[in-house]
Amino acid sequence: MTPLVLATGNPDKLRELSPFFANLDLELVAVRALVPGWEVEETGATLEANATLKARAAVTATRLPAVADDTGLFVDALGGAPGVRSSRFAGEGATYADNVARLLAELEPVPAEERGARFRTVAALARPDGALERFEGVLEGRILRAPRGKGGFGYDPVFLVEERGRTLAELPLEEKNRISHRAGAFRAASAWLAERPGWLKSAGV
Ligand code: IMP
Repeated sequence: MTPLVLATGNPDKLRELSPFFANLDLELVAVRALVPGWEVEETGATLEANATLKARAAVTATRLPAVADDTGLFVDALGGAPGVRSSRFAGEGATYADNVARLLAELEPVPAEERGARFRTVAALARPDGALERFEGVLEGRILRAPRGKGGFGYDPVFLVEERGRTLAELPLEEKNRISHRAGAFRAASAWLAERPGWLKSAGV
């Protein structure tokens, strides 16, 4: 099986993302299993830039093909904020609760019909010869005035998935993982790889 390195320090991500590659002849391996303590600074101005720099950093560290993702919450009434800064919206070292509190405070004067938002995920596949492919997943929703539900993480409790009438924190995890932005991006990456069985191994020549 071809190894594909997952460029994240978050062990939960390996569990969430492995099923998307289960039908392919590859083994998803956490970068820290190969390079203990691996870390990279997310200095990009866009999700595309961050996903790319993480995937390329993992390729450099392991000399193997790698995949990385970057996600942001884009709120219409805030001109697309917090976007690429979603994990540190309330400042460096902010907790999920701090970020949600800041989001609700900024949206306080905004009426329900103007609280549209979307999660976007960009996944980047990078190969040691420099070849790069990117994939996107989007989930549309609306920001509530107060948190609802105990599941998920991050902004899930205030993100209403309108057609289901529930927040992401109220949906069963399997359902969230079926409809999510991350699922969309990784399903696209997996489908693309399925059509190109030699891509991970090839040097592109
Ligand atoms: P990352 O790029 O996956 O690290 O995501 C960046 C930030 O976006 C996280 O710190 C969370 O605040 C937020 N985020 C990403 N994915 C989700 C999600 O599925 N639900 C809620 N918040 C998320």
